[in-house]
Amino acid sequence: MRRDVRPYWVKRLYLKFRAFWIWWFLAPRCESLGAFSTIMSPWFVIISGPNIRIGHSFTAIGEMHHPVQIGVWGRNFGEGRVEIGDACLMSPGARISASDEVVLGNGCMMAHGSYITDSDWHGLYDRVNRDGTPKPVRLGDNVWLGDRSTVLKGVTIGDNSIVAASSVVTKDVPANVIVAGNPAVIVRELDEDEPRYTREDMFRNPTETQAYFDALDKSLLADNSFWRWVIYSLYPRSRRRQ
Ligand SMILES: CC(C)(COP(=O)(O)OP(=O)(O)OC[C@H]1O[C@@H](n2cnc3c(N)ncnc32)[C@H](O)[C@@H]1OP(=O)(O)O)[C@@H](O)C(=O)NCCC(=O)NCCS
Repeated sequence: MRRDVRPYWVKRLYLKFRAFWIWWFLAPRCESLGAFSTIMSPWFVIISGPNIRIGHSFTAIGEMHHPVQIGVWGRNFGEGRVEIGDACLMSPGARISASDEVVLGNGCMMAHGSYITDSDWHGLYDRVNRDGTPKPVRLGDNVWLGDRSTVLKGVTIGDNSIVAASSVVTKDVPANVIVAGNPAVIVRELDEDEPRYTREDMFRNPTETQAYFDALDKSLLADNSFWRWVIYSLYPRSRRRQ
């Protein structure tokens, strides 16, 4: 990871601009978007369709070639819904596509390129009209979907369970297990007595968490000079001498 060379106040300005973008473009696309969201590159986060509710402390990381996408395409106008609990994370390229209903509990994490859908979208024989048998998908609290994993229609995943990278989940998953493979099967049980630290814990007091990150920025960026940042921005090659 490269050092952030922006002065603290430049970063603050950028964060204000980002917050404005979220407020102006993204929040109106949701039925509700909770406070304290951290949406990085929100211009690469695509939200479409009705009835999308997102809890507080939502983190999404948009990237130009890997946008985060949340879409509801109900069977009829105004139908379908996506509900994302508090303190959830969507990494670059993570996608949720709902026909009827996709619900995530609190503290769920979707890794890069992971995908949740409650519909096949086309029939096995009728490839033209949309699939008429979507089945809701529900994730409990603190569920972690690994890189490029897929959760298909009708699946319920219990609290704390983990879907390993590149797995395809076609059947219900109980709480506190790791599933892997295609189709995903249980490969390990999690120790329920092991102490946990979840995203929900991390954001239990979001004001405090935000203050902590702000203080961290302040100390890490304190010595950055404005003119050096300007020079690095205009002549990125000059950073090689650092
Ligand atoms: C789920 C995961 C965290 C489990 O890690 P772990 O506890 O060290 O698990 P192990 O490596 O001991 O694997 C347990 C078993 O599952 C199998 N397995 C693990 N991941 C697998 C995968 N993605 N696909 C198929 N099988 C897999 C292992 O081969 C092993 O099988 P065995 O018991 O027959 O030897 C890890 O496998 C994984 O997918 N990591 C990627 C996480 C990720 O996407 N992070 C992105 C940032 S959010």
